[in-house]
Amino acid sequence: MTAQIQAVRGMNDLLPEDTAKWQQVEAVLRQNVRAFGYSEIRMPIVEKTPLFSRAIGEVTDVVEKEMYTFLDRQGESLSLRPEGTAGCVRACLEHNLLYNQEQRLWYMGPMFRHERPQKGRYRQFHQLGVEAFGLNGPDIDAEIILLSAAIFRQFGILDELDLQLNSLGTKEERLVYRAKLVEFLEQHLDVLDEDSKRRVKTNPLRVLDSKDERVQELLLDAPKLSDYLGEGSRAHFDTLRSLLEDAGLKYSLNDRLVRGLDYYNLTVFEWVTTALGAQGTVCGGGRYDGLVEELGGDATPAVGFGMGLERLVLLLSTLEKLKSQRQCEVYVMGQGEQVIRQQAKIAMQLRDALPGLRVLNHCGGGSFKRQFKRADKLQALFAVVLGEDELKQNLVTLKDLQHAENGQITCTLAEAIEKIRSQTC
Ligand code: HAM
Repeated sequence: MTAQIQAVRGMNDLLPEDTAKWQQVEAVLRQNVRAFGYSEIRMPIVEKTPLFSRAIGEVTDVVEKEMYTFLDRQGESLSLRPEGTAGCVRACLEHNLLYNQEQRLWYMGPMFRHERPQKGRYRQFHQLGVEAFGLNGPDIDAEIILLSAAIFRQFGILDELDLQLNSLGTKEERLVYRAKLVEFLEQHLDVLDEDSKRRVKTNPLRVLDSKDERVQELLLDAPKLSDYLGEGSRAHFDTLRSLLEDAGLKYSLNDRLVRGLDYYNLTVFEWVTTALGAQGTVCGGGRYDGLVEELGGDATPAVGFGMGLERLVLLLSTLEKLKSQRQCEVYVMGQGEQVIRQQAKIAMQLRDALPGLRVLNHCGGGSFKRQFKRADKLQALFAVVLGEDELKQNLVTLKDLQHAENGQITCTLAEAIEKIRSQTC
């Protein structure tokens, strides 16, 4: 037998049962970004590699170890996008969307990172990304956070998530802090795990993110970034906090929250749950005022977030927040040679008369018992049943599958359509 070819590790198929859930989730996401007045942008999945190394940072895990990078046929280095912010900024600059105007944008689609796959962590995963450009006050930071909160609230999971908040200050403030942190860490190299030791030299703020218990304990005595924030950064953060409080949103301060991508300044935030095990961050984002300039544009303030859809769907499924989905409203069934010849035509008449409803025509024959079973499995609301006798009289039998007490009636197709319409609209 020929060997089967399997999917790439960490890249998952979404089967019909999954896509039904995903569509429910995506509909809520679309509804919320729309309600906040954001417009959709779609970028390519592949970009030139330097876009990501410049935007995300050469010494981040994403760029150092996780990108899917390859040479195309002309020998140019391209990468599958590990995230959407870099591509979004590139697209905005290329099409001059940022000149003298603000933009509120969103995108949804696959991202690729060569990480070690585990529950909630995949090599192909999907994000909803939301980015706002051209606004520098804390009010837009609050808006972005409130938009993420509105999504969680609509799903009924807001209380399952902890909103963690921090301020990274300005680049200059971070530089001063960075020197102090390095000085401290260098005095305690013996306590650091290998990864942290390496980071002291390359990206010391990432040591704050270490999961190693000894390092975490050591960090209790480390200098705190919040002590190095200037007046402007503090004021921005304080106003953001009041805006969130005014909106009734609870949050925790986490002064070790630094995020894995280098472009952030001032506000950073994550929504974290304990219900998913190790990969508990469902959404993360913050302000990145330097990125547009870094990628060749004029200095433009920006803030946004990325929400991991696999983690969101996992969390919603764990908390049983996703209803199983009906697959059709009307199931057309029949028996007898003459009937089968008419069945598809009647199904088509039903579709034309009932736009918006899903009309599934039973194929493959078999007993009525079997056909009713199939209709039940798909959670159909109505069965339109065609037998030889009905056909001769130009009638159909309509059965209300969700209310057995209503029994069934034999009527004209037009009457059946009216009845279905009156009970589904
Ligand atoms: P990020 O924190 O790298 O940020 O990713 C955002 C979210 O994507 C994470 O919180 C997580 O839910 C999901 N995610 C990341 N990696 C994986 C993975 N390997 N498997 C499954 N889910 C994953 C960004 O990507 C920024 N671009 C967000 C942003 C937009 N900041 C400002 N604007």
